[in-house]
Amino acid sequence: MKNKSLISIHDYSKTDYFKILEWADIFRKNPKEYENLLMGKVIATLFFEPSTRTRLSFESAVQRMGGRIIGFSDPGSSSVQKGESLKDTILTVAQYADLIVMRHPIEGSARWASEVSPVPIINAGDGANQHPTQCLLDLYTIKETQNTLDNLTITFVGDLKYGRTVHSLIQAMSHFNPTFYLVSPDTLRLPNEYKMLLDEHNVKYYEVRDMSEVVKLSDIVYVTRVQRERFSDPIEYEKVKNAYVLNAAMLEGTKANLKVLHPLPRVNEISVDVDDTNKAYYFEQALNGVYTRMAIIALILGLKN
Ligand code: CP
Repeated sequence: MKNKSLISIHDYSKTDYFKILEWADIFRKNPKEYENLLMGKVIATLFFEPSTRTRLSFESAVQRMGGRIIGFSDPGSSSVQKGESLKDTILTVAQYADLIVMRHPIEGSARWASEVSPVPIINAGDGANQHPTQCLLDLYTIKETQNTLDNLTITFVGDLKYGRTVHSLIQAMSHFNPTFYLVSPDTLRLPNEYKMLLDEHNVKYYEVRDMSEVVKLSDIVYVTRVQRERFSDPIEYEKVKNAYVLNAAMLEGTKANLKVLHPLPRVNEISVDVDDTNKAYYFEQALNGVYTRMAIIALILGLKN
């Protein structure tokens, strides 16, 4: 993984996943031991789209390992505003940093950046395409809560069309013989390219309209927000924005090991009464982003192997 960009979860093997999860666990258990690991390293975070968790957990990860951060969270404050191209921005920032973490609204932009950059690029989300570091923290959280990644039943709820966290997680979990229930409005169903991938891996998946029954069969319920920013027509967004709302009553009679995950931010799709149940695990999931990103940075910079 040394010096290798992380653009799509597809770029990494099952062995890589376990390596990252193993190091995430080590960083979690021994934070003091690694507080100078990134001494002298500079990491750039270039966020062309809004973020709370991804940017701040990357920055927290760098600071917990003694590294330094440069970058922007508002492209309006950078020379992008003056018309600078993405290529020129990347080639310039690569002079200042050992690693670039980038979020961008255009699908494929992270791959393109990695092809021109002399330093590794980590894709922190490119449009509706991929969010591989979220996927790795999701894998960590699933393994933490289920003690395995194998043979799990996972229900995905919400925006399966534009949900980049869903796309990455579906790809990664395909290695582990899962059963998927896919719950979404008709207009936000999982794209065919991902269904073809599931077919290639002989993954069992079922598209369903009603989530109440499948929640009872699930080990993980992975809820996502319907993303207003992905709709060109606001009327279409209004039609589906509250199509699925998980509440505490729906969790009665579910499996003892069931955990509800969400990449966050949440709008209405998980009622706040779920927060008080022992099924809610989305804030712990957000914390796992720090340990997982510590591991990803350390491995890409070749400071661990
Ligand atoms: N999960 C996630 O990507 O959250 P942010 O958009 O806040 O970074």
